[in-house]
Amino acid sequence: MRNFPKLATFLLIAWAMPGLASADEASAGGENHAKAILVTGASTGIGRNITETLAAKGYFVYAGARKEKDLAELNAIENVQAVRLDVTVQEEIDAAVETVRKGGRGLYGLVNNAGVAIVGSLIEVEEDELDFQLDVNVFGPYRVTKAFAPLIMESKGRITTIGSISGILSGPLFGPYSMSKHAIEAYTDSLAREMADFDVQVSVIEPGNYKSDIFKSLRRRMERNGQSIDDSLFAEQIKRMLEAPVDRAQHKEPDEVSAAVMDALFADDPKHRYMVVPNEFEAQITITQIMREMVQLNEGQPYTYDREALIAIMDGVLAELDE
Ligand SMILES: NC(=O)c1ccc[n+]([C@@H]2O[C@H](COP(=O)([O-])OP(=O)(O)OC[C@H]3O[C@@H](n4cnc5c(N)ncnc54)[C@H](OP(=O)(O)O)[C@@H]3O)[C@@H](O)[C@H]2O)c1
Repeated sequence: MRNFPKLATFLLIAWAMPGLASADEASAGGENHAKAILVTGASTGIGRNITETLAAKGYFVYAGARKEKDLAELNAIENVQAVRLDVTVQEEIDAAVETVRKGGRGLYGLVNNAGVAIVGSLIEVEEDELDFQLDVNVFGPYRVTKAFAPLIMESKGRITTIGSISGILSGPLFGPYSMSKHAIEAYTDSLAREMADFDVQVSVIEPGNYKSDIFKSLRRRMERNGQSIDDSLFAEQIKRMLEAPVDRAQHKEPDEVSAAVMDALFADDPKHRYMVVPNEFEAQITITQIMREMVQLNEGQPYTYDREALIAIMDGVLAELDE
């Protein structure tokens, strides 16, 4: 497992991402060809892109979805078997495990992708809204991974979770979403260490902004719940956020995210973290934030390191990559 990318690699990740697919292509023709992968939230956006990418390369995909229309659409794709799977419903998760067991292919990979976003300030958000956010984005991967872990361990396979650069960044009015993605950082770090004893490799993918339906479903949910922002102290800011095109058409297709997932699933030496961003700006603010936190942690405490000592620590961390 490559723990931490070299600094130069940090900055080149987005550029290099299409190249990662070749690591997969090298292995797709061999025994990996028939490996079965479960993708949650496969109906739209990133999950749909991952599903289509895997299926096109000949892998067998159990594609999790919730609506009849989506299940039918996914079933029509070659190498895909749609599975009814709401990550907040334990009975559906248990039934999905049963389906996969009966399928007789085992399960090599799990891609925890299903996710939602809500907007709102932390001093105003209702507890049930926060609960909804964490239930899908945090408890979802926890429940699904726990249920499928025995199958993945049997095949010494891979677990990949779609986090976000919001697992590092915490913007105003996206607090609940950032909280959920920060939790995924801790979740995947601990899980990786626990699963290493069973030869299961765990990665987290941290996309920047890509095209998907995440805003569409956010607005749909607000309408359905009759949620008004007029009384919010932040009404103007939230309105501006919601004015962005509902299909996120201004963003790129998430092909680079799928390429990173392919690497996490099939490379001989997958990375633990894959930051995948569509432009240099998103890479820069994310890496800067990590460094800012390091500086804040280090500042004004009895064991503060000076600049040279910090650089020596950084050199040590970079050296871990070669071990
Ligand atoms: N797009 C980005 O720029 C971006 C950036 C960073 C991270 N991400 C992450 O990428 C993942 C996919 O999001 P996306 O952007 O592709 O959004 P999306 O197009 O809205 O897709 C979200 C998927 O999750 C599913 N889902 C929602 N609630 C679910 C539940 N309770 N159980 C099972 N499935 C559920 C949706 O199914 P339904 O159609 O049934 O609602 C849909 O398939 C999320 O974890 C998100 O946080 C996205």
